[in-house]
Amino acid sequence: MTSTTPPAATPKRVRVHHLREAKERGERITMLTAYDALTAQIFDEVGTDVLLVGDSLANTFYGHRDTLPITLDEMIHHARAVAGAVHRALVVADLPFGSYEASPLIAHASSVRMLKESGAHAVKFEGGRRVAEHVHLLTSTGIPVMGHLGFTPQSENVLGGKRVQGRGEEAAEALCADALALQEAGAFAIVLEMVPAPLAARVTEILAVPTIGIGAGPHCDGQVLVWPDMAGLGDWSPRFAKRYGQLRTALIDAASAYNDEVRSGEFPGPEHSFAE
Ligand code: KIV
Repeated sequence: MTSTTPPAATPKRVRVHHLREAKERGERITMLTAYDALTAQIFDEVGTDVLLVGDSLANTFYGHRDTLPITLDEMIHHARAVAGAVHRALVVADLPFGSYEASPLIAHASSVRMLKESGAHAVKFEGGRRVAEHVHLLTSTGIPVMGHLGFTPQSENVLGGKRVQGRGEEAAEALCADALALQEAGAFAIVLEMVPAPLAARVTEILAVPTIGIGAGPHCDGQVLVWPDMAGLGDWSPRFAKRYGQLRTALIDAASAYNDEVRSGEFPGPEHSFAE
């Protein structure tokens, strides 16, 4: 399988304004989560535009039931590994539950820590009009912000579980108002998670900044997937996530072969041993 290369018009280092320019040119933006240096390097090398150090790592790598337990320190730790590994991609790091909601100043303090201590280029956090002031303070003090609307996992307990959001005209209107408020406040892009495809198309149409969809249909300006879902590492993935690989099967085969060869004495053979 050959790797793809980024569109010729895209730059050596992706910056926030390049995403808006990509939207204007009608070029789709690619985004994947990354939580460590090894995978970040691979996704960067194949030309992924944006790497998101998502708080989904609470589920995928720490095994928590939801994203709520992950801390700012843990997020910074992973964001540092990702930011240190990439040459081209824009690195966006999630602010975790509890580290920004209460006030713009708290969001600012958490974001400053994130950018200073990890080297990430931007932060993402969940919410619409309720965090517009936070977004405004951050963007006016040099911190790029990506918004996140639709199903917002940190509010799972209020939303009543993992459910499609924005169904019905009232909810759709509210989501459009949230998106416009984030754009007005200075957000450079907005993730739309689990919203009906026609609504995602409508939001994409009314915004000048790009939308990045996950479970939001084909009309967004870009797409994001949680990488273990994309690569088939877990034993389950959501309906909206296409599996582009079979990493789980590959790891099962590799670890089983290793176990067998160690037990039989076949490994290490002469080629993996030092004669003197
Ligand atoms: O944490 C995450 O991985 C995310 C994506 C689902 C967009 O926020």
